[in-house]
Formats: sequence, C-alpha cells, structure tokens
Amino acid sequence: MCGIVGYIGSENSADIVYKGLEKLEYRGYDSAGIAVIKDDKIHIRRSVGKLINLQKNIKNNPISGFIGIGHTRWATHGKPSEENAHPHTDCSGKIVVVHNGIIENYIQIKQQLQKEGHKFASETDTEVIAHLIEKYYKGDLFNAVKSALKDIRGAYALSVICSDDDSRIIVARKDAPLILGVGKDENFIASDVSALLAYVRDVIFLENDDIAEIKKDSIKIFDKNGNEAKRTVQKILWDAIQAEKCGYKHFMLKEIYEQSQTIQDTFRGRISVEDNKILLETVKISKDFLNKISRICIVACGTSYHAGLVAKFMIEELTSIPAEVNIASEFRYGTPVLNGTVLTIFISQSGETADTLAALKLAKEKGATTLAICNVIGSSISREADNVLYTHCGPEIGVASTKAFTGQLTALYLLVMDFAIKKGTVSEDKLAYLIKQMWDIPIKVTECLKQSEQILEIAKTFHMKKQFIYLARNINYPIALEGALKLKEISYIYAEGYPAGEMKHGPIALIDENMPVMVIATKSKVYEKVLSNIEEAKARGAKIIAIANINNKEIIEKSDYQIFVPEVDEMFSPLINVIPLQFFSYYVSTMRGCDVDQPRNLAKSVTVE
Ligand code: G6P
Repeated sequence: MCGIVGYIGSENSADIVYKGLEKLEYRGYDSAGIAVIKDDKIHIRRSVGKLINLQKNIKNNPISGFIGIGHTRWATHGKPSEENAHPHTDCSGKIVVVHNGIIENYIQIKQQLQKEGHKFASETDTEVIAHLIEKYYKGDLFNAVKSALKDIRGAYALSVICSDDDSRIIVARKDAPLILGVGKDENFIASDVSALLAYVRDVIFLENDDIAEIKKDSIKIFDKNGNEAKRTVQKILWDAIQAEKCGYKHFMLKEIYEQSQTIQDTFRGRISVEDNKILLETVKISKDFLNKISRICIVACGTSYHAGLVAKFMIEELTSIPAEVNIASEFRYGTPVLNGTVLTIFISQSGETADTLAALKLAKEKGATTLAICNVIGSSISREADNVLYTHCGPEIGVASTKAFTGQLTALYLLVMDFAIKKGTVSEDKLAYLIKQMWDIPIKVTECLKQSEQILEIAKTFHMKKQFIYLARNINYPIALEGALKLKEISYIYAEGYPAGEMKHGPIALIDENMPVMVIATKSKVYEKVLSNIEEAKARGAKIIAIANINNKEIIEKSDYQIFVPEVDEMFSPLINVIPLQFFSYYVSTMRGCDVDQPRNLAKSVTVE
C-alpha cells in the first residue's frame, strides 16, 4: 500500500518522480504529492484523488529541482484529504518525509511531541516521523533520521529530504519494500522496480533496518548496527514496455491477453518434454525431506489464496502428501501446529503482503521449512523464505490479479510434479503425459482468448445484475471463488463462489429469476454431478451461464448461455477456465463504468495488516 519515489541528479526531479508515481499508482490512489528542493527551499504540491489531479496542480503551479520525493497514498490513518496527503513536513517546513507502512506507536509519540510544542497539521501516523526528525536534527539529516527511527515501532519505507542540504536523500526501510535504482550521476528510489524501469536496470534491494544516504554520485548503506553495508547490485531483466498499456484500454485487459506468454515464461527452462524432467534450481527440497514430512501447509491472501486452494488438489492427487490451505490473516493469529516435519508454502504476487510475510516469519520461528512463490524479485517474502520459486509474469499493474494467478498455478504445477518425481508417486508415462499437458497449455490459452467476443455479448446481457452465484466442483471450485472475487473487486456486484454440491445447503434459497448462475461444467470426473446442479438452479428460475468444452452439444440444452473453452486434462483445467471469468468481470466492469485498473478501496500490494 502506498508508493514512494525519489530522484537526485541533473534532471527535473518533479517530472521523474511524477512518472515514477504513475507506475506505482496501483499501490494506492487516494491522494498524491511531490516535494522538491529549489534555491534552498522546499516546494510541495499535493492533491486529493487520482494522480491526474496532482498533474493538473503541478501544471498550474509548476515546481522543479534536482532533488525530489513523491508519494501515492492508500489511506490508513486519516481520511483521503490534502492535509493527510504526503509529503509531510516538520514545524519548520524544512524537513519533508514520504512513508509507506504504519507507525504503530504514533499516538504516544504524537502526544509527547505535542507536549514538547510540535504542531501537527494532519491525522496521519507519518507526520510524527517528520517532527521526530526535527527534534533530533542538529544539522545532520542522516543522524537525525537514525535517532528518530530508534523511537519508532512499526513498518516503514521512508524517504526524507531537508532544505538545508540539497545534496542527499536519506532513506530507510523495515518491513516495507524500498529499492534503489543505480544511475550514472543520478540515483533513484522507489517502492518497486516498475517505477525504475524507464531509467535504470541496476537496482539494490535494501534490507530490513537499512538506512542509506543517496547522493547524485554515491549510495552509502548502513545496517542496523550502524556499519556500512555492501548490498549486491542486481540486474532487472523486466522490459519497460511490460509496464505500459501498449494500446490496450486497461492494464487488466493487457494482462489477460499476456497469459499465454507469461505461463510459457514461467515454465520455460524448467520443464523438458524430450527427457521428461522438471528442473527447479532454486528449490532445495530433497526426496528424503518429502518422504518424511507430515503435511504441506499453504498460506496466502486474495487471489493467491485461490491458487493455493487449487494446489491442494494437485498435491494430494499427485504426491499423496496431505495439504491444507490457510488465509494468512487468520493463520498468523491462530495456533498452527508447525514443526520440522511441515513444508510451508507462501504464495504472493507482490511478495510484500503484510499478513503473508508475518505468517512466513511465524512458520520459520516454529521450525517449519518455508518456500515462497512470488512474482517480484527481491521482495520481502522471496528473501525471507528458505526456498523461492519465481513466476515470470513481469509487472502486474491491474489491481485485480490475472496473469499473476495463472503464473502462480503454473509454478505450483511444476513444483508438485517435481515433488511427485522425487517421491516416486507418478509413473514415467503419467509424468510424460502431465508434462505434455503443461507444455500445450499456452496454445490452449491462446484459443481461449479468442472467445472474448462471445463473452462480451454475454456480459451485455448481465452487466446490470445486482448479484451472482458462481458454482463449480473439485479442482475448479477455487476457480468459482476466483471468478466471484474478480466480479466483486472490479464491478462492485455481490458475487458468491460456492461448491456446486453444497448449494442445496443454503444458497439455493437465494435462487430465482434474478440470480444469474455461472457454472464451470468442463470435462471432469464430476461433470455429471455439475449437470445435476445446473438442473437444480434452472428449476428455480436461474439463468445459467455455463463454461463448457468446445463440442459439448448437450450443454446448449442444459444452459441458457455458453462460453466454450478448449479441452485439457481436468488437473490443468483451472488454468483455462479462469480466463473467461476474468474477461467476464472485465467487460461487466467497463460496461458499468467502473475503474477497472484501480477499483475503489483496493490496492495491489497490501503492506498493512
Ligand atoms: C490484494 C490484491 C489482490 C491480491 C492480494 C494478495 O488484495 O488486490 O489482487 O491477490 O492482495 O496479494 P499478493 O501480492 O500477496 O499475491
């Protein structure tokens, strides 16, 4: 939540910071602001609402300077307003701060500072940082930030500038991401790499408790003991173009269409059809370990949780290892039974979700082996876990996750196949069959993407409905949940995903002619059962939209509307069946005039609990 950007060099920092914020707007869009230093003075522009309002503000009241910081906000403490928008200043107006995270003890600090005479202008937790730095400032910003951080409890990624010294930005991080972009006679700061791609490829991921001094021609990083630290400079291979819309109306639509490629990118170099092999270099889980573990425990949030639910089916079917799936915010406050015989898997696109990160730390404390599936290289979760398996989806900008989900599923198929080989729970023939199925998925996804027109037509019929039920069974039940979540997130239509067989225990009472029912009815061992559930809903007046395989004639009689998808093995069908549901939500959302890429109240990277 919240994105921060900083620049120091010889260009106009206001322009560079603004462009960076555009790339981070998915992290929050309640308000935004930029501060620069020019002629030994701080100049700030802040606006409520989307970034475009800040752009208009700066157009009317231009600012420029060679050093600047900026912020795009997802409100936690204090409503979205200009006073609460970052950057925040101290009493003198000389010290300016942008912050991503939450200061847990801000009330105590604020009360103390007020007693000492500090005047506050906002309701935010962040403002206390500016005043604390002011309290400790004796002419050296670095030392003042260092002292202030000693008083603070919570999570932060911070950038601080002071009008007394336009030669440096001081940054610090703890449990919130902060990345430095290493340029030539210029340096950059951002919450994630997508804001840096247009300028640099060399980046440094700050570690927890690092404080750094960023000058135009140098970067000095100090660890929590105050020792100068060497952090590796990493090359980012993501293409800047991946973070652009490239002619698509929305990022979400572009990202839906990218899936054939991103699935392929995620398995490329990791499976070999010729010699039936899976190669996951970064996963050091041995055969012995797999033979002794009592269970696999998966933890995630949102769409990533749904990927975990699909993985449970794969794991139990292919490896016979018991598997359970947990929502991170519940898991971390429960009393999970974890020890050295449990493999824990954490799934997170961003690698920064606060609850998932906390759950991972808990699992480590309890002695479980940890493995992360992440899309963002160098993210907190990927660095904290014992093993990491990256998805190769490139930056996902749309708040509603699409390509990251199918990337996660792909990574999970590879992982589970690897485990099954190690455990000897699949025959050579079965393995060859599974690998071939995986290999062919991108072609099937491309075929599936061609159904968009048909889905658009169905969306025209249903876009004004107030509620929806999504039904499926078995490995596709999580896809019903995911379809319902997508619709809720971006169209604000209430939708419920349900196991089709459970409908008669409650939700069937909701069904009448005003309740459309989306049913996943592709080929599977439960296909006949799903047909019966369709009959039950139809008999009560529901309009049925069925997702079925091409060539299924029977479904035309059974349902009112059909979306046809190519046939694949049931095990891999979630990868295909989710795509029409993504399209459906997208079209419904656009027809209702909703903001597809930045739905209200949501943010892409949830770094608060
Ligand atoms: C937010 C996003 C979702 C995402 C979830 C988990 O709610 O809007 O799209 O699935 O966080 O995020 P993660 O980065 O951990 O996968």
